[in-house]
Amino acid sequence: MSLKKNIAVIEGDGIGPEVTKQSVKVLNAIAEQFGHEFDYKYCLLGADAIDKTGTPLPEETVDICLDSDAILFGAIGHPKYDNDPTAKVRPEQGLLGIRKALQLFANIRPITTYSSLHHLSPLKTKNIEGVDFIIFRELTGGIYFGKKEINAEQTIASDDCTYTKEEIERVAHLAFQSAQTRKKKLTLVDKANVLETSRLWRKVVKDLAAQYPDVALDFLFVDNAAMQIILNPKQFDVILTENMFGDIISDEASVISGSLGLLPSASVGNKTALFEPIHGSYPQATGKDIANPIGSILSAAMLLDYFELREEAALVREAVEWTLTNQFVTKDIEPINFYFTSTIGELISDYIGNKIPGRLNKENIELRKSTII
Ligand code: IPM
Ligand code: MN
Repeated sequence: MSLKKNIAVIEGDGIGPEVTKQSVKVLNAIAEQFGHEFDYKYCLLGADAIDKTGTPLPEETVDICLDSDAILFGAIGHPKYDNDPTAKVRPEQGLLGIRKALQLFANIRPITTYSSLHHLSPLKTKNIEGVDFIIFRELTGGIYFGKKEINAEQTIASDDCTYTKEEIERVAHLAFQSAQTRKKKLTLVDKANVLETSRLWRKVVKDLAAQYPDVALDFLFVDNAAMQIILNPKQFDVILTENMFGDIISDEASVISGSLGLLPSASVGNKTALFEPIHGSYPQATGKDIANPIGSILSAAMLLDYFELREEAALVREAVEWTLTNQFVTKDIEPINFYFTSTIGELISDYIGNKIPGRLNKENIELRKSTII
């Protein structure tokens, strides 16, 4: 069955445009191979949007996104804003704004490892073999969106952290449902020994557990969770947590696989979902064609899953595994003998389009390798 879908594309800042171009290439290869039609509408967000329009989240971007079936997002952030605490306009406001405007209340970050990359992980191979878990991070509540205050003397500041039962329930349902399709284990990460909001999370999630009797629910304080993710990451199946804890532990978990550049994410809400690599805008690499496009390409695979194009998503993942197993990798993985961002995008698209003779003709592909040392 062929599908026609509208995809909003936000390339964003830094390496955002170059990695996103590769996932669009891959989506086009899928469309061609399976007879689908993907129409792209490009829009602005972040530092790029500030430079061009004066605001990090132009209204037009919200309208285009609301009007689309899915959003493919690159990265945002620029160093010129990072060390200026007085800056009134920041690129991050664009991302937080779009999350809120589209009510993207759940951020889903799968942590997968690849045996060909085990040597890159800071953890011992025996601890990472078979690691496969998924983090559900609440994305539109908590301290990120609470009231922010600073006194006139600039000596006292506060960020309020509030959660409602409904906010907890809607993301918790998604996490329970995901656990049902996996190893049926859900871990709530919180700080219930100290925080009132965490105690509410525990109560609400415990109450919901009755609706999911096949899922084993347990609880971990966030400080302990931070330690367990490094000590024994295999113990996890689905982790559910609030916004700020999820931000921190998902970056921590991302290094298990060996490169931050590999990991995708999906942010879902009631309407259009957004797909983005979990890495940032990596300003030092901008325009050099060296960034790893796999995080973005696997985000495109999550987008295909969201369209219920399972076979297509599986083919993208198969193509990604094929590049990794054969060491067709970018500079973050192979600092000397690396392939360019755009070449990885081409190889994956060619694999999808069946254009790689015998699919494993390594010599032909070797010719595409970088000569830069
Ligand atoms: C993320 C990022 C954002 C966040 C920043 C850029 C606002 O770190 O998506 O994890 O903190 O949520
Ligand atoms: Mn983050």
